[in-house]
Amino acid sequence: MSAEPVEQHNERERYEGVLRFYHLAKHQEWAVRDLPWEQIPAVPEGKGSPERQARRRDIWRSVVMQQLQADMFACEMASQLLTAAPDHEARLYYSTMVQDESRHTEAWLKLIAQVGGEGERDPYLDQLAHMFLEADLLEEKVFLMQVFFERLIIPRFRLIARSSRGTVLEELCNRLAVDDGIHHGAGMAYERVLLENASPKVRSHLVDAANTMLPIFAKHALWRPKAREMIGTLMETRDRERLHADLQHGVRLASSLGLDVSEVRIPAG
Ligand SMILES: [Fe+2]
Ligand SMILES: [Fe+2]
Repeated sequence: MSAEPVEQHNERERYEGVLRFYHLAKHQEWAVRDLPWEQIPAVPEGKGSPERQARRRDIWRSVVMQQLQADMFACEMASQLLTAAPDHEARLYYSTMVQDESRHTEAWLKLIAQVGGEGERDPYLDQLAHMFLEADLLEEKVFLMQVFFERLIIPRFRLIARSSRGTVLEELCNRLAVDDGIHHGAGMAYERVLLENASPKVRSHLVDAANTMLPIFAKHALWRPKAREMIGTLMETRDRERLHADLQHGVRLASSLGLDVSEVRIPAG
């Protein structure tokens, strides 16, 4: 018997982590029609005068709009990853991520239609999307999108869910927190494989990319459309503290991938 099958087996073993997330993604798969569309309100309903109610609806509309924008960008990013990844296991996994992100987009589109339609775009999210989509290296795309972005937005879903109890929005955010946990975990597993043979040049390129991305992410997290300017000021101190903790966590993740993060600068927020 030749040694080849053994080598092939060892080669495939490197992808076990990624494959595990493929099975997890299949197991967690859900459908937009599973959400309780007709049974509970889409977003929290306002009390008081019609003006007050309209103001509240505008606030929720801006929350939904920002997430719709994020998931439409995630659709593009996931299809890029699917086509750019050369490995069979990674492609299998990304085929599920493409479906997840397009399912998320469908749910946000249905929600936004119920709260007055699309509104103001977050300019920093557009900047992030541009940077991720234009990145040259697969290592960089996985690093920015899955190691950082997918992980950094999970606390935002939990926050939105906490403030929208008993609504479709809450249910959706809970499902998205689980899905994005899988997207992040799969990215960590794949990035580990990709970095096994990465040159010092590629590694330092990733640190540079993190330094470009983190300040824009900070601006995105603190950005408030006109509808939310008022509550924006009220929540700012807490938001800045939370953001700082999240960004520090992102840097720890990078160092767990063996990247020298001593040069990663955490923006003050
Ligand atoms: Fe998503
Ligand atoms: Fe995602």
